[in-house]
Amino acid sequence: MNMTTATAIPALQARAVYKNYGEIKVLKDVSLDVVAGTTHAVIGPNGAGKTTLFKVLSGEVFANAGAVHLEGRDVSRVPGHARVRQGIGRTFQVARVFAEDDVMANMAIAIESRNAGRDRRFWRSFKVPLDSGVQDEAVEILATVGLAHRVREQAGVLAYGERKRLELAMTLALKPRMLLLDEPMAGMSPGDRQAAVELLKRIAQELNMSILLTEHDMSVVFALADHVTVLNYGEVIASGTPDEVKASPLVREVYLGH
Ligand SMILES: Nc1ncnc2c1ncn2[C@@H]1O[C@H](COP(=O)(O)OP(=O)(O)OP(=O)(O)O)[C@@H](O)[C@H]1O
Ligand SMILES: [Mg+2]
Repeated sequence: MNMTTATAIPALQARAVYKNYGEIKVLKDVSLDVVAGTTHAVIGPNGAGKTTLFKVLSGEVFANAGAVHLEGRDVSRVPGHARVRQGIGRTFQVARVFAEDDVMANMAIAIESRNAGRDRRFWRSFKVPLDSGVQDEAVEILATVGLAHRVREQAGVLAYGERKRLELAMTLALKPRMLLLDEPMAGMSPGDRQAAVELLKRIAQELNMSILLTEHDMSVVFALADHVTVLNYGEVIASGTPDEVKASPLVREVYLGH
């Protein structure tokens, strides 16, 4: 191991995280390191605790024990909105967009909240015109996700895969260094999935981001991930390169079913 790898600070780290909901122990001693600039997947059966782990990492909920470190800083008690300012961006298992607003207005909400903490939804009824810088940036980011041609469309009428891409564009507008994607391909057709894999590969490279994602589709996981962590009943049962994880007898037994 050379000095660079020995001293590199992980982009995001869970250290012995426990999370309970009442009596239910959802996460038990979960640790993982997202190496800066890499794509890391968390896989596991339904109910394994993947979304809960994302909530703990993004600050939507706090862990009962253990710690979360963002670029070396302990953010365990930092709420989610403040973690966004410190470089975390997150999308949700079911895409969250403002359905009654058009695509441009959705982007403006994200860009302006980054710039000034201002909430355009409040000003919407006053028809405050959009700054041309905001519009240019919105179109530029929408182009990265292939949605520039839908800019005047109401978000609520977008196809499911397009809505996911709009949510991703809104998250990218926050300029995260660490991107958390909870089932980014869920509900997409195989064709859309393939396109989304290419899109994420390109974004990871061009924007030099670290990505943590959950995904049920193993072909997506193995196409994208540099590192895979496997959760089962809230515990890490394997962690390694895609090939190492595929070869693990325990993973095959409890997760892949053979
Ligand atoms: N707010 C909550 N209150 C009580 N139990 C919860 C809560 N959120 C999650 N759980 C439970 O925690 C466990 C893990 O849920 P979680 O949503 O994290 O799993 P997951 O791995 O994301 O599953 P999926 O693959 O279906 O998305 C489940 O048994 C779930 O019922
Ligand atoms: Mg989930």
